[in-house]
Amino acid sequence: MVKLGVNIDHVATVREARKTFEPDPVEAARESEAAGCDGIVCHLRKDRRHINDRDLEKLKEAVTTKLNLEMSVDPEIVDIACGVKPDQATLVPEKRQEITTEGGLNVVSNFERVREVVQRLLHSDIEVSLFIDPEPEQVKASKGTGAKIIEFHTGRYAEEFNVGGDYERELSNLREMTRFGLKEGFIVCAGHGLNYSNVTPVARIEGMYELNIGHSIISRAVFVGIAEAVRLMKGLME
Ligand code: PXP
Repeated sequence: MVKLGVNIDHVATVREARKTFEPDPVEAARESEAAGCDGIVCHLRKDRRHINDRDLEKLKEAVTTKLNLEMSVDPEIVDIACGVKPDQATLVPEKRQEITTEGGLNVVSNFERVREVVQRLLHSDIEVSLFIDPEPEQVKASKGTGAKIIEFHTGRYAEEFNVGGDYERELSNLREMTRFGLKEGFIVCAGHGLNYSNVTPVARIEGMYELNIGHSIISRAVFVGIAEAVRLMKGLME
């Protein structure tokens, strides 16, 4: 069965709106785990707009499933990751002004730097995933970095789905790229923009290992609580 990683960044976003102590992302992680998620995801951004260094340390202590740290290849963040040692690091592109991660990491054009960071993380006993667009050249380039996991950016699929566009075309590309990723020996995951309406077709892709979902779960949690929001998402994925 496909696994669910819950991204709890936006619990910290609400906290940072007031620069106070609540809501606590660590509490959100604990409740999500109790509700049956398979991993906790957080993104330590250079501008610390939501998750901060202390949150990351506390999450490392508290998470009992799998802690997956999304991070850029920025040297400061790489040093922090190697010190904290989350179970997994997912390398993502990061631009200061963006609202959220726009597009996947361009492994083709940043190959040397990506490979260097992957190797350093692996030597620190951290599993590494690369967040890439579902394109064959990105999958091929990822292979040479030493990473064993790839996560496909599902933003294009989600956008098409949400506006009633040609999401079937994006879905069939995701299926094809998943087959290709598996053939190349990767564990294949996906995420970004997935929600309660569009998740099921992606969860049904043969060979899909894990979906990482944040914004829609935290949004639903405002109304039903995070445990119920996680259970509802798991139900749709099953
Ligand atoms: N996976 C990765 C690598 C991401 O960067 C994000 C966004 O932080 C997600 C999954 C989750 O995206 P969303 O918040 O749209 O569910």
